[in-house]
Amino acid sequence: MCGIVGVLGNHEVAPLLVEALKRLEYRGYDSAGIATVNNGRLDRRRAVGKLVNLSDLLVHDPLAGKSGIGHTRWATHGAATTVNAHPHRSGHVAVVHNGIIENFRELRAAVEAAGLTPESETDTETVALTVRMLMDQGASPVEAARETLKRLHGAFALCFLFNGEDDLMVAARKGSPLAIGHGDGEMFVGSDAIALAPMTDRITYLEEGDWAVITRRGAMIYDEAGRLANRAETRIQIDATRIEKAGYKHFMAKEVAEQPVVIADALKHYVKGGALNLPEGLDFSTVDRLSMVACGTASYATAVAKYWFEQLAHLPCDVDIASEFRYREPPLSTKGWAMFVSQSGETADTLAALRHAKEQVAKVVAVVNVPTSSIARESDLALPILAGVEVGVASTKAFTCQLTVLFLMALKAGLDRGRLTPAQVADHLSALNTLPGLMNHAMGLSAEIAGIAEKLAEAQDILFLGRGPMFPLAMEGALKLKEISYIHAEGYASGELKHGPIALIDNRVPVIVLAPRDALFEKTVSNMQEVMARHGKVLLISDAQGVAEAGKGCWKTVTLPAVAPILAPILYSVPAQLLAYHTAIAKGTDVDQPRNLAKSVTVE
Ligand code: F6R
Repeated sequence: MCGIVGVLGNHEVAPLLVEALKRLEYRGYDSAGIATVNNGRLDRRRAVGKLVNLSDLLVHDPLAGKSGIGHTRWATHGAATTVNAHPHRSGHVAVVHNGIIENFRELRAAVEAAGLTPESETDTETVALTVRMLMDQGASPVEAARETLKRLHGAFALCFLFNGEDDLMVAARKGSPLAIGHGDGEMFVGSDAIALAPMTDRITYLEEGDWAVITRRGAMIYDEAGRLANRAETRIQIDATRIEKAGYKHFMAKEVAEQPVVIADALKHYVKGGALNLPEGLDFSTVDRLSMVACGTASYATAVAKYWFEQLAHLPCDVDIASEFRYREPPLSTKGWAMFVSQSGETADTLAALRHAKEQVAKVVAVVNVPTSSIARESDLALPILAGVEVGVASTKAFTCQLTVLFLMALKAGLDRGRLTPAQVADHLSALNTLPGLMNHAMGLSAEIAGIAEKLAEAQDILFLGRGPMFPLAMEGALKLKEISYIHAEGYASGELKHGPIALIDNRVPVIVLAPRDALFEKTVSNMQEVMARHGKVLLISDAQGVAEAGKGCWKTVTLPAVAPILAPILYSVPAQLLAYHTAIAKGTDVDQPRNLAKSVTVE
């Protein structure tokens, strides 16, 4: 996690650094800081908490200079205090870091032995101290940085700035992404291209182990062995308007509302003339097993997709949380595919799982929102979900776009494996085409859901129930609610309730039942009755027929339009997201930047 930025510019750099950090704040917001070199003099400002605190500090205590680095922090080593905030400085060097230096204790012992004393509890400061120690021994800034990099174990993206050097930065990447931006007589460094978007669209991505010596004239990039490396410069298209709130109070509200449009965009991209138009190479006919791996919300998308791949394509499917997959050492089939689903494409656990699986399967497929991300670049085939930039920490439109793309892939698998005819696929695609309109309709229930959320905000515990593919959605609904409202919530398979969790039920526990009128409806209703018999407060979310048949006796009901049952997880995501959103509003929590979280989780 953490976001880093560096600028060798032609104008005052502090405002540019703060603007770039604003775009990186999704990576963490425990503290922020910048350092600049002004007439050769290195100086820094740091503030605890959101970026706005650093901006305020800079108003009262400005920092001049045309060269600078900046950082927004998600705390790993050491609490969110000013002294632990980046940039870390020692002697003539300042450094910003994203990742974890695993051997920092060893490094710390070495610098202490050399008579240097750390001020902070961070792993990062040992990097600055090591560079300083080497410079004190006579190394040049570049030599000291290079030698330090050789000594580091762990994951890092780093950017160094040096006292006395107005035209020099050293940047390095190992395990954490880093982009170099090219300007006109200016150079930039950023954790991602989005951070650099207002300054340049000309980007070079560093590869694993790369390090670069950057001046205003350009970047010399070296590989891990120290050989000059030729890394391509690409032009990145980032629609800056999509990074604004566009009149919405929160990014989350905007991103929930965007779903009909982005899903329609994804369908336009992947369906042509009423038939599937998925990338070449996506041929499931010889695949004997699909292993899907992801984290958090993306893992719930894979859990829904498992039902689809099994039902539509009869394809054996495993789903795994990335952090478990890797160390569980699952036997993989050489004829199988491994699929990695990630909004950011940078999640450290998912990336590590991908690298673990790579040599063991026939193909590695990525489903990502950021097509230039590490996960996309390291896969054999990457399908973008086309959700547009997602800023709110709680994933919403990326989830439903992931589901849409995974559903299309399941249809393709059904076709390739002879389980679906083209006519059946066309029927599913027609149903899919109705989704944007149905989601718009669901969005119209926002005010009604806000009224229910006022009551939910008083609860201490909330359960979500669902059956079949609605079970993972129940878990996603619970995750959304807990991460932004801080109310404890759990998602269960309806049929599992009586095997333990029903002990929690009393008249203070709202139970949210996600139950479209599908083949499993009667069974779900029976489980709902078991809750009501124990005075549980049931909120039934169903269609008109479902509410008419089973709504009696419920605490509340929400009526959605009828939808093809197989697509219900996509439509029912909307009320689940709106419930979480409005409950958070009722509780007054920070919707877009909930405590302790970050959007891109680049540490394991
Ligand atoms: C929850 C949420 C997280 C992410 C998870 C994976 O709302 O956003 O659970 O889904 O951290 O992130 P990506 O999809 O970027 O790999």
